[in-house]
Amino acid sequence: MNSTNAVEVVNLNKIYSTSFGKKKVFALTDLSLTVPAGSIFGLLGPNGAGKTTLIKLLLSITFPDSGSAKILNEDISNIKIKKKVGYLPENHKYPPYLTGGETLKFFGKLSGLDGSSLDKKVDELLELMNLTRWKKSKIKTYSKGMMQRLGLAQAMINDPDLIFLDEPTDGVDPIGRKEIRDVLVQLKNTDKTIFLNSHILSEVELITDNVGILNKGKLLREGTVKELTEKKEEYRLSFDEILNPEILTGINGLKKDKDEYYNLKVNDLHELNTVIDSLRNRSVLIKEIIPQKNTLEEMFISLIQEANKEEKK
Ligand SMILES: Nc1ncnc2c1ncn2[C@@H]1O[C@H](COP(=O)(O)OP(=O)(O)OP(=O)(O)O)[C@@H](O)[C@H]1O
Ligand SMILES: [Mg+2]
Repeated sequence: MNSTNAVEVVNLNKIYSTSFGKKKVFALTDLSLTVPAGSIFGLLGPNGAGKTTLIKLLLSITFPDSGSAKILNEDISNIKIKKKVGYLPENHKYPPYLTGGETLKFFGKLSGLDGSSLDKKVDELLELMNLTRWKKSKIKTYSKGMMQRLGLAQAMINDPDLIFLDEPTDGVDPIGRKEIRDVLVQLKNTDKTIFLNSHILSEVELITDNVGILNKGKLLREGTVKELTEKKEEYRLSFDEILNPEILTGINGLKKDKDEYYNLKVNDLHELNTVIDSLRNRSVLIKEIIPQKNTLEEMFISLIQEANKEEKK
């Protein structure tokens, strides 16, 4: 196992038994993944894929049927390591009669803080999450976005090295989401590791270093957003004004696209260069050659559809 990983999961299996053991749900199947320390990892997957289950297993809120996992280089069965971990649960609820400040104080005390250092930490986090002016307001008056920001502050109260966030921007408006993203990037820059579950792919694309795609308990793909969204050997080209479009006929894989652009599909880099040679031989002036990418959402949807189709076969 590698010491530069904050999370290492090896062949984890989790089966829930419901209806007195009559029905089995294979929540996670042979799941292996790693999250490098100091990075932001995004676990993506449709409803019921097993995302929350994985976080709960890593936090020992529930237990695996087989397999092993380490967080911060310690086996998950080592309870002491949880001191260095922060957690924002999905759909979290705090007592509505507490104020934001009281809530954070409560969680701070649970993690061993007290006195002036606790007061300082609470104020610091309220400031970071833009909640200072709501410190003395009862939680029942908080909006969804404020609740989520308070939840994030709670997850950070013990100054954790590894933070699990289950849908951190759920129900938050675009400006609030941007603020949360900025805080997460700031945290990463202080060498903390962030593991987040999310449905908001455009957002995940903006901040994560690596993502994993989970479907029905199985990890379909893992990699950087760049790796996962690259369209192999597809390019968009534009040329200086072409007076006679005939000049482009007979070039394999080249098709007119929108505006002044052409789309080019080739098998490899050699073929791309052969096309460039033919264009140049025809005195075409090439302005742009842009490698094409899928959005994370396009990639995600086609991957899940493909996996579900395979399963039906
Ligand atoms: N305590 C439980 N008992 C029985 N089945 C459960 C339990 N918790 C989760 N499941 C089932 O395990 C599967 C994975 O659920 P999980 O909550 O981990 O999914 P998720 O990816 O977090 O979904 P969502 O995006 O909706 O939050 C689902 O089929 C769910 O119904
Ligand atoms: Mg969930």
